[in-house]
Amino acid sequence: MRLKGKVAFITGAGKGIGQATAVRFASEGAVLGLLDRDAEALKDTQRQVEAAGGQCGIFPADVRSSSAVRSAIDQTAQRFGGLDILVANAGVAIAGSVVDMPEEDLDQVLEINLKGVFRVNKYGIPHLLERGGGAVINIASTQGWRGFPGWAGYAATKGAIIALSRQVAMEYSKQKIRCNSIAPGAIDTPMNEWVFAQADDPAAERAKWDEGNPLGRIGTGQDIARAALYLASDDAEWVTGTCLVVDGGQLAGGG
Ligand SMILES: NC(=O)c1ccc[n+]([C@@H]2O[C@H](COP(=O)([O-])OP(=O)(O)OC[C@H]3O[C@@H](n4cnc5c(N)ncnc54)[C@H](O)[C@@H]3O)[C@@H](O)[C@H]2O)c1
Repeated sequence: MRLKGKVAFITGAGKGIGQATAVRFASEGAVLGLLDRDAEALKDTQRQVEAAGGQCGIFPADVRSSSAVRSAIDQTAQRFGGLDILVANAGVAIAGSVVDMPEEDLDQVLEINLKGVFRVNKYGIPHLLERGGGAVINIASTQGWRGFPGWAGYAATKGAIIALSRQVAMEYSKQKIRCNSIAPGAIDTPMNEWVFAQADDPAAERAKWDEGNPLGRIGTGQDIARAALYLASDDAEWVTGTCLVVDGGQLAGGG
């Protein structure tokens, strides 16, 4: 029960990494505010959180709306008496190289991936300050560290999330707020199911990704949930301003 008595707010909690993190945090004793634009997916997460013995408020909303993000965060703090942990996870994968990518696609990915994270930090941190400290975890990507052709806009948002997290860490360290990012490698979530489905043979494509990873498999939501749990907990009390790469060795030289 490493998060006993803690209140956490998580975006993109309906599926994938956000869902795994919500269920893991609940099983470690946290109560949760969960936001996702997919209302049905959010209900599924709520069922899993309750099955794990947890409790959550759910907010079907889009991180592109400042007022919706702010209201969900405020309601979470009000319902549970404060807020200790933020996980800014909602994001979309929009492909395109610099020349081919329409500017409208860049606007979309900036609005969701970067400004969505910014909003969670902006409206969440005042509650952490009221509590006298807390932990912020922003979900970036290995694409923030290394180029993968065809993902110009997405990679730009992920590099920016790593820099923003460092910035937040320095701005609030004296007030005992720690802020770190996580850079997941390829993870088995609905986001990548879509990528596999674009290939002629999705199963072969998936197998290729597994084989290309130094540890022999792509990641799971649980791999990232465990990293988020570490950064959210007191185990990471002297860890701030860093980016935790969780990728099975991909950045170290794998595929
Ligand atoms: N899957 C990977 O391989 C991988 C790798 C590196 C980083 N990431 C990052 O991890 C995060 C989660 O990815 P995932 O793989 O779990 O994705 P996913 O598509 O499986 O789940 C993302 C969730 O976020 C929600 N969401 C998307 N846009 C939203 C919006 N505008 N407002 C509110 N909710 C929204 C979706 O409805 C969905 O439930 C993203 O930031 C992604 O960029 C994923």
